[in-house]
Amino acid sequence: MNPTFKEAFTIKGLAGEHKLQGTIGIHGAKNAALKALAAAVLFDGPVTLDNIPDTNDVGLMIDILSKLGAKVTKQSVHTIVIDPSSISHTAIDTELAQNMRSSVVLTGPLLARFGNVTFPAPGGCVIGTRPIDLFIEGYKKMGAVVDLIDDRTYSISAPTGIQSTELFFNIQSVGGTETLMMAAVLGKGKTVLKNCAMEPEIVNVAEWLNAAGAHITGAGTTTIEIEGTGGKLLNSKQSYTAIPDRIEAGSFLILGALCAKSLTIKNCQPKHVESVINVLRDSGVEMDIGVDTITVRGGKKIKPFNIRTHEYPGFPTDLQAPIVTYLTQVEGESMIFETIFEGRFKYAEDLSKMGAHITIMNPREILIKGPTPLVQLPEMDELRAHDIRAGFAIVLAALVGTGSFKVHNVHLIDRGYEKLEEQLTALGAEVKRIPV
Ligand code: UD1
Repeated sequence: MNPTFKEAFTIKGLAGEHKLQGTIGIHGAKNAALKALAAAVLFDGPVTLDNIPDTNDVGLMIDILSKLGAKVTKQSVHTIVIDPSSISHTAIDTELAQNMRSSVVLTGPLLARFGNVTFPAPGGCVIGTRPIDLFIEGYKKMGAVVDLIDDRTYSISAPTGIQSTELFFNIQSVGGTETLMMAAVLGKGKTVLKNCAMEPEIVNVAEWLNAAGAHITGAGTTTIEIEGTGGKLLNSKQSYTAIPDRIEAGSFLILGALCAKSLTIKNCQPKHVESVINVLRDSGVEMDIGVDTITVRGGKKIKPFNIRTHEYPGFPTDLQAPIVTYLTQVEGESMIFETIFEGRFKYAEDLSKMGAHITIMNPREILIKGPTPLVQLPEMDELRAHDIRAGFAIVLAALVGTGSFKVHNVHLIDRGYEKLEEQLTALGAEVKRIPV
C-alpha cells in the first residue's frame, strides 16, 4: 500500500455550534489488528483475520509480511488471509520498518518460528526517543543472541529455540508485552512475564492464540505466563476477529461532546473507554451507555478537569491531543500530565495559532485556559497533522472553529482512522479530501 502523501482535508468550521448528528460505526482496533497480522507468522497455514481496519498502518504491515514472502490475500475490505508457509527469509525490510514502530512486534513471531530475525531499529535511530531496550533485554533473557550489525540494524538468533525464563518489565510496555508473549508461544517450557501492560488488544490476540493451540494465561493482568508448544505451530483453522477500536470510539466521544447535538457510537465496547466516559461525564457531558453503543450529547455547560495519561485502564495517551482540543472550549483551567511519551505536544502550537490559550509547562505538562474561539489561519499558515492522534485533534479544532480550514498530512491521519472524512460527512460536517 502506498499512502498518498499529497492530500489535505478542507473543513468548514461549525463556529462552536453543536450541529453534528447521527450514528457512527467503530472499526476493528488498529492496535490489535497489527499484532494479529504479526502473530499470523506462528500459524501452520493460511489463517483468516477479520474486522481488520483498512488503514495505512495495516497496509504497511501487509507490505512487510509480503516482502518476507508471506502470501497475503485481501478477501474483502476488512478480511485478510495470511499464509506464512511461504516466508522465505527473516530480514524485515528497512525502508518499510522505518515508517512504523509496530514493525518491531514482528520480531517476536519470526524469532519464535525461524530462530532468527534481522531488523532495523524502527522509526529512526537505535538510541532514540522510543527505545526498544525492553525487547532486546527480553530476548537476551529468553536465551537469544543479540548482535548490532551496524548502528541501526539488529540481528537476533535463538538457534535452539526460545528458552523458558521469568522477566520483569521495568516499564509497562504494550508492544513489549505483546512481542515477548508471542515470542514465547512456540518456545520450550514456561515463560513468566511480570509488570505487563493490560490493554484489551493484548487480551484479544492472546485469546485467539489460545484458541489455536497456544497456552497463555493472565493476559489482561500484570503477570502473563506462557507454556511453550515446543515448536508446534498454531492451528490455522482458527480465525481471528479484531475487537472494536477503543481509541477511535474515544475520539468520536470527544467529537460528540464538542460538536454534536446527538451522536451515537455503535459497535464499540463501552467498558474499554471507561476512563474517557468518566472524565467527560464528571465534567457535565450527557451520555447514554448501551451494551455496545454510546450516545453522547454536546451543548451542556461543562467543567474543566485535569488528567494524567496512564496505561490501560487509565486515560490513554492516544487521546491526550484530542482532549486538549476539547478543553480549549471549556470554561476555566485544565492541566494535562502526559506520563507515557515525552514531548507529545507538537500540535499545541497549531491550536495556539488558532487562538487557544495553551502553555506548555514542560515536555510532560500542558495548561489550557478556555474557552477560546478557534479561528481560520491566513492562507500561508496552514494546519497539518503531526501524527495520527494529533491529526485528529487538529481536525476537531477545525470542526469546532470559525472559518474554513485546510489540514495537511492526511496520510498520517489515515494511519489510524479509516476514511475519516466519510464518517464526519455522514454526521453533517463539511469535510473534503483534496489533492494538494
Ligand atoms: C502502543 C500503541 C500506541 C500507544 C502506546 C501506549 C500500538 C501499535 N501502539 O505503542 O498507540 O500510544 O502503546 O499506550 O499498539 N518503552 C521503553 N523501552 C522499550 C519499549 C517502550 O522505554 O523497549 C517506553 C516508551 O518509550 C513509552 C512506554 O515505554 O514511554 C510505553 O510505550 P509502549 O507501551 O511500548 O508503546 P507502544 O507499544 O510502542
